[in-house]
Amino acid sequence: MSSSYSSRPPPPSSSSDKTQRQLGFVHRFVPPPKDKDSEGTKQRTAKTLVLLHGTGGNEDDLLQLGRHLDPKAALLSPRGKVLEGGVMPRFFRRLAEGVFDVEDLKFRTNELADFVDEASKVYSFDARNVIAVGYSNGANIAASMLLLRPRTLTGAILFRAMVPLVPDKLPDLSGKGIFMSSGLQDPIATRQQAERLSGLFKQAGGNVILEWQDSGHELTQDDIECAKQWLLERDAR
Ligand code: MLT
Repeated sequence: MSSSYSSRPPPPSSSSDKTQRQLGFVHRFVPPPKDKDSEGTKQRTAKTLVLLHGTGGNEDDLLQLGRHLDPKAALLSPRGKVLEGGVMPRFFRRLAEGVFDVEDLKFRTNELADFVDEASKVYSFDARNVIAVGYSNGANIAASMLLLRPRTLTGAILFRAMVPLVPDKLPDLSGKGIFMSSGLQDPIATRQQAERLSGLFKQAGGNVILEWQDSGHELTQDDIECAKQWLLERDAR
C-alpha cells in the first residue's frame, strides 16, 4: 500500500547518476531552499528528513509531504530495494502480510543506515540532526533503525508503524523524539502493535508520543498536521 498523500512531480534532484550509484539506493536529495542571508557561504543544513515510502511506493511519494512538514529541511528520499511480486518496492522482505523476514530486515536496516550516514558526507548535511519520516513499510524500517542503529537518527515520525522486530538488547533511545500516528481502525498496523512498539521505545528511554487517528491504514490530513505540530514544538525546545 502506498501513501495517498501526493503524486505531483517532484522538485529536481541534485544528484547525478554517479552519486546515485555511489550511494547504492535510487533516491532524491532535495536541499533546503536557499537562505538569502547566507548567500555566498556554503550552507550547512540544520535538519534532514529521511522519507521512507510505503509498499509499492517510490522515492517521489513523500517529497511533497516532507516539504509540508518542514519547509526548511533537506529531504533525502530513497526507494526501497526489495521488489515484491517483481513490481512493488519495499524496504525489506515479508513472508506474508505482517510476517517479516527478520534476517532480511536486519540486513536492510544496516544497509539503509549506512546509506544515510554516507549521504550525509556526499551532500554535506548534519548527520546529528536526521529525522526519519516513514509510512507503513517505511515506518517499520525506520522503527527498526531506531532499535538496531539508533545513532543514525535523532528522531522519527512513524505513520502506521508495527513492531518490526524485538532486539536482543534494547538500545539507549534517551534524547530521541519519536512521534507515532496510528489508526484506530487499522487492520494491519493494529492498535496492539502500535502500543507494543511505543512501549518498547519508552522502555529504551525514548521520548514517545502516540497519537490516534479515527482512520484505517491510509494516511490522513490529520496525521500530517499532528506531525507538523510535533516537529514545530520539538524545534522550539
Ligand atoms: C505494508 O503493507 O507495507 C505493511 O502493512 C507493512 C509492512 O509490510 O512493512
